[in-house]
Amino acid sequence: MDTEEVTASAAGDGRPADAAPRYLSGFGNEHSSEAEPGALPVGRNSPQRAPLGLYAEQLSGTAFTEPRAHNRRTWLYRARPSAAHPPFHRIGNGSLRGAPFEETEPDPNRMRWDPLPEPPAGTDFVAGLWTLGGNGDARLRSGMAIHLYHANSPMTDRVFGDSDGELLLVPERGALRLCTELGVLVAAPGQVALIPRGVRFRVELPDGEARGYVCENYGQPFTLPELGPIGANGLANPRDFLAPTAAPEESEGPVEVVNKFCGRLWAAEYAHSPLDVVAWHGTHVPYLYDLRRFNVLGTISYDHPDPSLFTVLTSPSELPGQAGVDFVVFAPRWLVGEDTFRPPYFHRNVMTEYMGLVEGAYDAKAEGFRPGGGSLHNMMSAHGPDRATFDRASAAELRPQRVDDGLAFMFETRWPVTLTAAATDAPHRQRHYDQVWQGLERHHSPKRP
Ligand SMILES: [Fe+2]
Repeated sequence: MDTEEVTASAAGDGRPADAAPRYLSGFGNEHSSEAEPGALPVGRNSPQRAPLGLYAEQLSGTAFTEPRAHNRRTWLYRARPSAAHPPFHRIGNGSLRGAPFEETEPDPNRMRWDPLPEPPAGTDFVAGLWTLGGNGDARLRSGMAIHLYHANSPMTDRVFGDSDGELLLVPERGALRLCTELGVLVAAPGQVALIPRGVRFRVELPDGEARGYVCENYGQPFTLPELGPIGANGLANPRDFLAPTAAPEESEGPVEVVNKFCGRLWAAEYAHSPLDVVAWHGTHVPYLYDLRRFNVLGTISYDHPDPSLFTVLTSPSELPGQAGVDFVVFAPRWLVGEDTFRPPYFHRNVMTEYMGLVEGAYDAKAEGFRPGGGSLHNMMSAHGPDRATFDRASAAELRPQRVDDGLAFMFETRWPVTLTAAATDAPHRQRHYDQVWQGLERHHSPKRP
């Protein structure tokens, strides 16, 4: 696929083009970018002397020997090598936790939470991370964690990197300006951004405050799902994924570099900004995706398709078709199914579902599920429409109906999610969520001979 430069305004973030970062279009591409002409070596990765006095450094997101289709690595050409730092020391984790999750017993109950409360003034993105739960083990590079964030202060002289996995950021309130080693991405509500494992970044808050969700994926990097009989196009189209262009920060230190390593936070004082990459090329790159560009497919005859049809990104496991975690979006769409119960049906699934809401309402829950909140339906827990939704949808006249009053998403994972103590005990947890399914009366009367 060709690399195509686009501006953020073309990407739809609403900012003036002259203030917007420039992006490279395409998913999984071997992208390249240089902030200064001639900074990128030609014909080799590690010449005897890299151009312009830069240091060459490879950042690998997969093992050297993984198949080409999976392999992720990027060559960085930077003012100082990342290796130039003193020892890392432990710092407090705040409300951030990592797998394995052993603070509470796995709980089969259905759970729902209101949005995170307001953080104290001066809370930056890292300090504003709050872990709900997860599964697997970061030390085994398997499983996932669900975090929420609520921040009201930009990161200054502080940079974060996650050795444990990649971070899929889902803004719900306020944009995130992500200053990464490879350049700048601006992610507003309705868009998602991915920071690959180990890529360092700083978060600024253009709107002064930001709130949202994070899927931390310890397993194989997210990729696009196979399309099978859908054909060559559809769902999330590769050209709509946008990578940044090189934007080095030349500031001299001190900069606190925070490293999440096996669930714990460590920090080292760098004497220079680690975001000093002048040129790069590779496949291990951050990217931005606008969920409004998702090509929603669904029935044009009858029945509600399984929501796997709404998969944006998937992290495959060793079992074909069984994802470590899927990112699924319920985007605006038309419902036209004939003789069909159109909202999501009642179900019990082997996969575990965490749902969040970016805006509006979700068509299976009439109330109680708020933007910034979330629900957890663990392995085999029974759930589906609430009574009000069931009654309405069972009686509705089945004309073509546009569902465009909300943007919900799901992190769906192969293993049950165990909560943190903070999530279990949270004052903003809804203690009476089960009542959603109260009042679903018996309508069937057995016909006796
Ligand atoms: Fe579900």
